[in-house]
Amino acid sequence: MIKHRVAVLISGNGSNLQALIDAANQPDYPAQIMLIISNKTDAYGVTRAKNAGIAAHVINHKDYSTREEFDNTLNKILKQYSIEFVCLAGFMRILSDGFVNEWRGRMLNIHPSLLPDFKGAHAVRDALAAGVKEVGCTVHLVTEEMDAGEIIAQARVPVFADDTVEKLHNRIHEQEHKLYPHALKILINNK
Ligand code: GRF
Repeated sequence: MIKHRVAVLISGNGSNLQALIDAANQPDYPAQIMLIISNKTDAYGVTRAKNAGIAAHVINHKDYSTREEFDNTLNKILKQYSIEFVCLAGFMRILSDGFVNEWRGRMLNIHPSLLPDFKGAHAVRDALAAGVKEVGCTVHLVTEEMDAGEIIAQARVPVFADDTVEKLHNRIHEQEHKLYPHALKILINNK
């Protein structure tokens, strides 16, 4: 079994990162998480990376005057580790067109809605406010347009009458943790 080299980019808690680490620890999973990059020093995902013995780099976007310079630094590190696939997992930065182009077809994102519904940073809140009966999560290829690339996999989640944004997001997270490893495997196996 060839294990392809994957980097995960995060900004926060990193529960999806954890799901990918756990999946990749299985001998028959076709990927290994080689590198974690966070743009936030205090992201709990950085601790998860350290606990798992995986290289973690913090690149603070505030240290860079342009998006391109920040993205060039990302790219340099990804190259250093010979990364083949990139997973965005709660990474709260918009990437430049050049970076997206470089990783086209090899970079995934996870979003907490049934895309194309409820794009953007407040998907769960917006879905709840819209009163829909069903939400979900989507893993898609990253393209220049936010939350709009080819869909690789989706999972559905029911909305209950007493849901809050937090309760609903927790229920979505449970599905995300199964969906992301599944979608990454699909992408790798289709290459
Ligand atoms: C997830 O809900 C994901 O869909 C969204 O950001 C959240 C990240 O959660 N893009 P975590 O950091 O993986 O726990």
